[in-house]
Amino acid sequence: MKLMNKIKETAQFLKGKGIAAPEFGLILGSGLGELASEIENGISIDYANIPNWGRSTVVGHAGKLVYGELAGRKVLALQGRFHFYEGNPMEVVTFPVRVMRALGCEGVIVTNAAGGVEYGPGTLMAISDHINLTGQNPLIGANLDEFGPRFPDMSDAYTKAYREKAHAVAEKLGIDLKEGVYLGVTGPTYETPAEIRAFQTLGASAVGMSTVPEVIVAAHSGLKVLGISAITNFAAGFQSELNHEEVVEVTERIKENFKGLVKAILAEL
Ligand code: HPA
Repeated sequence: MKLMNKIKETAQFLKGKGIAAPEFGLILGSGLGELASEIENGISIDYANIPNWGRSTVVGHAGKLVYGELAGRKVLALQGRFHFYEGNPMEVVTFPVRVMRALGCEGVIVTNAAGGVEYGPGTLMAISDHINLTGQNPLIGANLDEFGPRFPDMSDAYTKAYREKAHAVAEKLGIDLKEGVYLGVTGPTYETPAEIRAFQTLGASAVGMSTVPEVIVAAHSGLKVLGISAITNFAAGFQSELNHEEVVEVTERIKENFKGLVKAILAEL
């Protein structure tokens, strides 16, 4: 089936399940999916039951689509995203963003766990821009003219007005929200110390294995974007070793601040 027809089919299916008018899409990264359980009057659908949808394989990613109210806004939350390193084609990785757009979302909040180049573990960082070092682009192939142009402008992919609101809200909550450039790779290996030194020279503040594909597709279709990284570790070479357990542990430690911040931002968007 053509991509456009798949998007329409899935959007129709979700509307039929009562997912009528989401305002914001929420893509919740590693260990940050808990926020979806705070959604009120919610409809929750297993990924396995959604047509044309991918399957989640990573520990810490539940694999559910949750729709309902959060901080008074209608949100459609991905509890568990699809990564390219799992073997998903880019079309599958970014399909939820397409559907969010088709359902009428105004914007998306995209979150992730990331390694710190400029910042240390425990930092929350608003993404101001990204560097795509995945070697991929999810828009390769026939352009979906209904969504956006063949050659989309990426100058304002991360919506400035959203970021400004995020900073204002963080200040009110007493959360030290940093800002920086997210450099996206495919993983699944963590980086080498030489790569991290190179990325630092390139201007990266943080490095991670997600977000870039989804934001490219969001920007293409005119969806506004707020990106937030939870820095879970110093990137390779800045600390002795890297492991997924540390990522999980630090996420656990900062997730209350993270959840509070995202809810307060949603209320203001
Ligand atoms: N590198 C890439 N992705 C990550 C990291 C990292 O150090 N930490 C969490 N996600």
